[in-house]
Amino acid sequence: MTASALELQPRRAARMPGAWPLLGHAPALLRDPLRFLTRAYRAGDVVSLRLGPKAAYLVNGQDAIKQILVADAARYDKGFQFDQLRTLMGDGVGTTADPVKHRRQRRLLRPAFDHAHVETYVPVMAQAAQEAAGRWPTVPSIDAGAEMRALSMSVVARAMFDVGAGTSAESPAAGTVLAALPTLLGGMGRRAVLPLPVLDRLPTPGNRAFDRALTDLDALADRMVAERRAAAAADPSGAQTAHCLLDTILAAVDDDLRGMTDAQAHDEIMTVLLAGTETTAGTLSWILHVLSGDPESQREVQREAEQVVGASLPRAADLSALRFTRRLVTEVLRLYPAGWILGRRPMEAMSVADVTIPAGAQVLLNFYGLHRDPEIYTDPYRFDPGRWQDGETDPPRPHFLPFGLGPHACLGEGFAMSQILTTVAVVFSRYTVRPVPASVVRPVARITLHPGVVPLIVEER
Ligand code: HEM
Repeated sequence: MTASALELQPRRAARMPGAWPLLGHAPALLRDPLRFLTRAYRAGDVVSLRLGPKAAYLVNGQDAIKQILVADAARYDKGFQFDQLRTLMGDGVGTTADPVKHRRQRRLLRPAFDHAHVETYVPVMAQAAQEAAGRWPTVPSIDAGAEMRALSMSVVARAMFDVGAGTSAESPAAGTVLAALPTLLGGMGRRAVLPLPVLDRLPTPGNRAFDRALTDLDALADRMVAERRAAAAADPSGAQTAHCLLDTILAAVDDDLRGMTDAQAHDEIMTVLLAGTETTAGTLSWILHVLSGDPESQREVQREAEQVVGASLPRAADLSALRFTRRLVTEVLRLYPAGWILGRRPMEAMSVADVTIPAGAQVLLNFYGLHRDPEIYTDPYRFDPGRWQDGETDPPRPHFLPFGLGPHACLGEGFAMSQILTTVAVVFSRYTVRPVPASVVRPVARITLHPGVVPLIVEER
């Protein structure tokens, strides 16, 4: 609700103790963000922070979060990190600050991510998982974090451009994405934490590699738009074309019968490549890590995979039968949501849980704290897939928000769930994983929350 609509005397936000002179809470948030969020969650529904000279508000309460994401969504944009991302990735559905454009782009993208289309990508997902996992038992150990990152990039790239390619190695587009995207994501992580444009312009090797990667990905997106447009013109009925995400995106038209311009399609490709790779990769890495330390759950996943897919590759129709696996994924998404914190910025003064938040302030939504609230989840730190009811594929919201909520909620939820279930079924119908002795896995909370390096030993079953 807008602040002026409030007749009550506004409350002040609870103040988070421990601010440093000048730097405020930034050192604590940078040093151990998850600990900071857990402590700050207990301080109140809306907690005021200082990040350097800037005032920020951490929003914890589920009703307050829902109000910002749903009822008042039109009065917020995504904030300064997205201003930054926009200059790099373009004005796509995930970054644009223009609500009219956002609605239109979402309508045009939706068909590419609907259930029927996503189902057609399951063979690509299964084949890519088989290709990757097939190499694992031949080496002493793997870093599951790096493996899942490469797998997710290859899957999204192939679904986007090259459904027809036999293997990842046969897809030149996947090759370019795999070469460029890790450098871009790494550079963006640094830029999000330390947004100093002057640093970005220094001719350091890191900045040069970042600029090259961005140029390569930009060129790939432009080339693919031209190629797929030409393919569609040569085959107007679409009968000869293997429909990739990009074909569906380019074919979509709005109520005015107009579709996307080439420039807009370019920006949406960049958006989907960035939004759809680290998130899924991080979730899959957590799943492998958790299962490597929980033999009982691993056996249950293996039993289910064996029963449902046996020695074959999973098909789209198999995924709904992976009921225990789905509960396990849900529990991993609760404990380790890739979107652990979401940014928003009110365009006018807003009242949230009776606290007035000034226009332009940085608002941070504490999903990590919410997912571990002891008043919502019994024994919240315990990993327990059994807390989700059998068949409950859409857990109660708004206290379970791994894919967000409201007009900006994840467009790729179905795609992500299909890829995760498919990958888990492929891996665990064939292999057993265990941690490399004495290895330690630590959460890395940057643009997404992921487990960093996950050293695993993989054996044939
Ligand atoms: C486990 C995997 C994933 C998680 C946890 C996840 C999470 C999220 C969350 C929390 C948001 C909301 C951001 C906000 O409100 O500011 C979001 C948005 C988005 N996601 Fe995902 N995502 C995942 C996978 C994917 C995949 C695979 C794709 C595409 C292939 C994708 C595409 C998008 C897009 C385009 C948006 C922007 C939507 C908009 O602003 O209207 N995501 N995602």
